[in-house]
Amino acid sequence: MLPLLFSVATDSYNLAVRELREEFGRDLGIERVSGDLGRIVADAPPIVELAKACDVGRIMFVRHLTQEIATFPPDDIPPAHELADLVLAELPRHPNALAVQTWTDGAGTGGSFYHLLADALGERGVEVTRSGQDVVVSCFISRKTVILGVNLLDYSLSDWPGGRMRLARSDDRVSRSEFKLEEAIQTFHLALTPGEPHSPAGHPTPGDPPPGGVPSPGGHSSPGGVPSRGELPSAGWRPSPGGPSSPGALHSPGGRLSPGGPGERPSTGGFLAPGGKALDLGASPGGWTRILREYGQEVWSVDPGALDARLAGDRGIHHVPTTAGRFFHDNRVRFDVVVNDMRMDQVMSARVMLDAVPHLRRGALAIVTLKGGGRNPLDSARRGIELLAKEYAVLHARQLHHNRRELTVIAHLP
Ligand SMILES: C[S@@+](CC[C@H](N)C(=O)[O-])C[C@H]1O[C@@H](n2cnc3c(N)ncnc32)[C@H](O)[C@@H]1O
Repeated sequence: MLPLLFSVATDSYNLAVRELREEFGRDLGIERVSGDLGRIVADAPPIVELAKACDVGRIMFVRHLTQEIATFPPDDIPPAHELADLVLAELPRHPNALAVQTWTDGAGTGGSFYHLLADALGERGVEVTRSGQDVVVSCFISRKTVILGVNLLDYSLSDWPGGRMRLARSDDRVSRSEFKLEEAIQTFHLALTPGEPHSPAGHPTPGDPPPGGVPSPGGHSSPGGVPSRGELPSAGWRPSPGGPSSPGALHSPGGRLSPGGPGERPSTGGFLAPGGKALDLGASPGGWTRILREYGQEVWSVDPGALDARLAGDRGIHHVPTTAGRFFHDNRVRFDVVVNDMRMDQVMSARVMLDAVPHLRRGALAIVTLKGGGRNPLDSARRGIELLAKEYAVLHARQLHHNRRELTVIAHLP
């Protein structure tokens, strides 16, 4: 079995290791490669199993996965054509296109390795983009090591190098928090375009290109470029019927753990559909409100704090300058979406989400950042999620790249 590489936030490495061992056994051999990269070297599960555990949020602190195919000391790297051959030897047939994603143990992008690999694969007739392909070649570069990995996008958790999503800074941006919501929408494919069926059959899978007019990270899908899913290398790669492509709830209402899989996802909801009514709890200064407007929502923005002056003229925004509790007391609107980025601990935040339930339509989408950590952020987050699961189907829970000391949870009201 190939070693598996997992990316995390540097401060969350130990939490990720704890989650991995709780999920797959205490004997799991894990070593740290760099601040935000770990390697499972012994008793690794099939990558499909690991990806599924991450996709449904049983493992929350891992944000990117790949399978290691080769490692080199930086001063002894084979010529580019040999690297290309190594990659192609992992695939069951010659692909027309691949994504190549490079990153370093610092802030660098490893751009020179991207060009090296792209040129060498190009000479073998393979179109190379940075994202949007079924198969992803990863290359991690540090002063001590250069590691090559290959994985299906469906089992990678993110279509960005090491899960480091980079979003364009627009002049319209009113808060840094905007990136968290945008990343959640893109990562979990939450946006529907008009006309898309609002049903499980129409639910985009984690490997599909982002719908809803969201720009892709810099690449584009290439038709018919690679072997079809399910044909890809070695037993560990084969998608199982309950693989991460099949959305399944982490926790069902009532706190029951659900194994996930096709048919288990409740029949409606869990999307951001244009024309909806959205409730933004903890909205000030209005970053999430602005993003929700971009996705066609009419937004009720609840926060004692002010909204950015640039949002003032928008008649699709209703600022209610009060706390969530007071808002619920007077509110008569029913919402399709509730988002919550309030600054409060995980359990209190989850309680507010339970208070929101009578104000939501069936099938409503919920996006929550569970903040803070205290001494034991993993257990506190789990308590918050268990509370949410009393009323919501919790679909995903992950520490995304733009989260700091917090997790993003995606749920919906059955
Ligand atoms: C991280 S900021 C939200 C940033 C916002 N999502 C954005 O994109 O601009 C957290 C906000 O939660 C608000 N907040 C804290 N407790 C609240 C409560 N009980 N009701 C409403 N808002 C609350 C704070 O006033 C603060 O503005």
